[in-house]
Parts: sequence; structure tokens; C-alpha cells
Amino acid sequence: MNPASDLPPSDSLSHTPVLAAEVLEALTPGPGRVIVDGTLGGAGHTRLLLAAGATVYGIDQDPYALNRAREAHLPNLTVLEGNYRDMRELLAGASVTRVDGVLLDIGVSSFQLDDAERGFSYHSDAPLDMRMSQSGESAADVVNTYTEEDLAALIYEYGEERHSRRIARAIGQAREKAPIESTVQLAEIIKRAYPGFSRGIHPARRTFQALRVHVNDELGALRDGLQAAEALLAPGGRLAVISFHSLEDRIVKRFLRGSTALRPLTKRPVEAGEAEQASNPRARSAKLRAAEKLSPEVTP
Ligand SMILES: C[S@@+](CC[C@H](N)C(=O)[O-])C[C@H]1O[C@@H](n2cnc3c(N)ncnc32)[C@H](O)[C@@H]1O
Repeated sequence: MNPASDLPPSDSLSHTPVLAAEVLEALTPGPGRVIVDGTLGGAGHTRLLLAAGATVYGIDQDPYALNRAREAHLPNLTVLEGNYRDMRELLAGASVTRVDGVLLDIGVSSFQLDDAERGFSYHSDAPLDMRMSQSGESAADVVNTYTEEDLAALIYEYGEERHSRRIARAIGQAREKAPIESTVQLAEIIKRAYPGFSRGIHPARRTFQALRVHVNDELGALRDGLQAAEALLAPGGRLAVISFHSLEDRIVKRFLRGSTALRPLTKRPVEAGEAEQASNPRARSAKLRAAEKLSPEVTP
């Protein structure tokens, strides 16, 4: 496998792509290969796929990411706005019905996290938003209108937070006095309710993850996106999925296990090496799984 240092340098404005060499090995991009990047983001992976000669259809639901990608005018890249769960329809709109590769590098990008105004981070104060697509219910809508029971359930399920009930109760009490509108306001409510907080993981981390996953229906999109990718791939085509927490990785693992049309290429998820983990904190929790579409005659 190529060390990441052998890869062409990516533009200074682009997102540092995680597990770049491993993604290239899995997707085998080259001239004539058509690849869907379902999570275009800062186009970090896309630039590498293009540099290897592939034609790329890049999908994103975030208007900011789309504008940046369009402004870069990358040759052989078609930028498509939408949810990757709808990739078949989006590609059909560009008259493409079969592709050689699909990449999903799920979650939020460093730009989204770093842009305080988007409300993803509990470190900087901003309106409690968290919507990648800028449409639908915001995190503030959820926090201020859901019952305590529903809040506790979603914080438990999507955040794997064992103090979910206590946090939901604290939210319920706080919003009786005033609506919860900002990230820091919510983080403080959680911090005060959290038992035994001293150092280590911030007490708001799991709840913020839960709200983000819920607001963007990230797990539903992943399930639909995996099915769509399976259907869209030509025989011999490759799927590569990078996930960042256990809920996502479990969905990918189970999907690949249950699929009769895909042959897994990775027995265990591929993780970043020490050097990448040291230079890119986002790589520390990244897990890559890859699979190849079987020819119909070998599909059991
Ligand atoms: C982790 S970043 C991708 C980074 C990219 N691989 C790179 O190297 O620059 C994830 C991107 O996917 C987008 N995204 C997440 N879920 C999506 C979905 N269901 N449909 C479309 N875009 C999505 C986010 O808006 C974000 O821009």
C-alpha cells in the first residue's frame, strides 16, 4: 500500500482526506473509471480520484461545500446537490446508471465543525443548528419541542449516553425558564447535570453527537445510501465507506455481511496508521470498509 506521502499534494483549501492511500487502493481509480463521491465535502478524496484519472460525480447536501467545489472548477468533476441516499436519482439526472466506484466518508467535515455559526460545536457559542442541508428541523427545534422521554431516547440511542435521562430532565427544566437557543447554553446545562465530570471527554460530546445524527438522519441516510450504492455499482465496481463511530460502523458491517451482491474486501475495518493519527485527529476514529460488486452469475 502506498504511504500517504506518495500521494499528490491536495490543495491548501481542501479537507485533509482520511485514509487516502487506503481509499485509492480500495476504489482503484483510473482513466475511464466513473466514481461517485457521495460526501464531496472539501473534495480532498475527490481530488485524488481525479488525479488518478477517474471521472467523479461529487454529491453533497451542504450548500457551502457545493459552492467551494464548484468554485474550484476541477476538470472531470460533476457536482451534484442532494443527499447521497438519493444517489441513483441524482446520477440518473446526469444520465449515469452504472458506476465503477462509490465512496462515502460520512459525518461532518472539518469546515462544518470549524465554522462556529453552524452550531455543531460546543466549544464556540452559536445558534443551535447542526443542519448540514440548512433545511428541516434544527437542533434547537428538537431540544425545545421534544418530550423529555423522546429526548432521552434519542440521546441514548444516537449518543450512546448512559446519563441520557438525567440530561433530558435538565433540558426540560431549563427550557421552562427560557428556550435553549445556543450551543454553549446547552453545553452548560449538560455539564451542570452530568455526574462526576472532571476531565476527559466533554460531558456534552455524546449529546451533541446524538442531536447531529438525529437532525441529519445520518443513520437512515447511511442505510439507504448503502443500498443505493449496491444497486448502482457495475459488476467489479468497488464500494468504500469510512465511518467515525460504532453506530455507523455497525450498520456498514451488517449491511456487507447481509449483502449477496457484494464481496467484502476488508475482513476487519482498516484504521489509520500512527503517523496519520498523529497528524490528523479526525483519522483517529476512522474505520474503512470496502467491498466489490459481484457479477450477476456469481451472485447466489
Ligand atoms: C467528512 S466530510 C467529507 C470530506 C471529503 N471526503 C474530503 O476529503 O474532503 C462529509 C461531507 O459529506 C456531507 N454529507 C454528510 N452526509 C451527507 C448525506 N447524507 N448526503 C450528502 N452529503 C452528506 C457533509 O455535508 C460533508 O460535507
